[in-house]
Amino acid sequence: MSKKIIFSAIQPTGNLHIGNYLGAVKNWLELQKNEDYECIFCIADYHAMTGDKTAQDRRDQIILMAAELLALGIDPKKSTFFVQSHVPEHTELAWIFNTVTPIAELERMTQYKDKSQKQIKNINTGLLTYPTLMAADILLYHTDLVPVGEDQIQHVELTRDIGRWFNNKYAENYFGEVKPLLTEIPRVKSLLEPTKKMSKSYGLNHVLELADEPEVVLAKLKKAVTASEPGEKSPGVENLLLLLKNFGDETVYNKFVEAEKNGTIKYGELKATLAQIIGDYFADFRENRTQYLEDRSYLATVLADGEERASKIAKATMKEIRHLIGIR
Ligand code: TRP
Repeated sequence: MSKKIIFSAIQPTGNLHIGNYLGAVKNWLELQKNEDYECIFCIADYHAMTGDKTAQDRRDQIILMAAELLALGIDPKKSTFFVQSHVPEHTELAWIFNTVTPIAELERMTQYKDKSQKQIKNINTGLLTYPTLMAADILLYHTDLVPVGEDQIQHVELTRDIGRWFNNKYAENYFGEVKPLLTEIPRVKSLLEPTKKMSKSYGLNHVLELADEPEVVLAKLKKAVTASEPGEKSPGVENLLLLLKNFGDETVYNKFVEAEKNGTIKYGELKATLAQIIGDYFADFRENRTQYLEDRSYLATVLADGEERASKIAKATMKEIRHLIGIR
């Protein structure tokens, strides 16, 4: 049986944080090990253009994201790893998809509605057509499965519709049925406002970045919101326990859960333990990251190789599509 094709992408938005790691990259690393899958991972720099970055931000962030993903263990020998804009077929196919996608379908996307409220001064057309580019990313490689967090499921479902709309108009059964690959993803919350999702848009003290030195992790955790009484129900404490569950061993986790239940928990101790565990967990990552960032020519070689592999597939698909739509 031929391998199932997995495609996923991440926007380059600066240092990865623990929410990104548990929400996406950790899952990619598991999938990459699985022999049943052929994995393609992409840095979605064109998607990131819908935000408010400068050219220099963009240049820095693409390199940084490449270095961080490699440092976490994305293995360019096992997976095809590349930058979206290096393979121009993505935007070419996105244009074609724009012409089969009703505007109303794009206007009802939750992310579009959220972003246009958040970026009130920059509601650009890219925010609206974001999902047609994402559909192009996915369908160019005849992807079977797309590992994504819950917030992106709607886009994967729309991708399936876009494939169908294209098929109906141009070629029965050309694109297959794409499915989101759902795994249980821990929902990590902001340290300072633990009812909200962990996100850098609230400020750096809300997130633990993977590159944070242990003393920074401890300082941020010290400021993290807990409960006023030990044992009182609190989203902040729940969030810290969630992190402990994901990074610590079971005995330590159970000990704190027990203490929280019977009201003897000491938040200072929980924070110090967690800081230690997280600092240790990402120690190798921090070292690898520094090395990759110092070796730009190696990064460039890896990305050029990924570009070549992705291009081969993308070019073959686009050749067929140009023929199907009658422009060649
Ligand atoms: N929109 C995704 C996110 O913000 C990133 C992304 C771009 C993506 N293209 C993709 C994810 C294709 C999966 C497949 O998380």
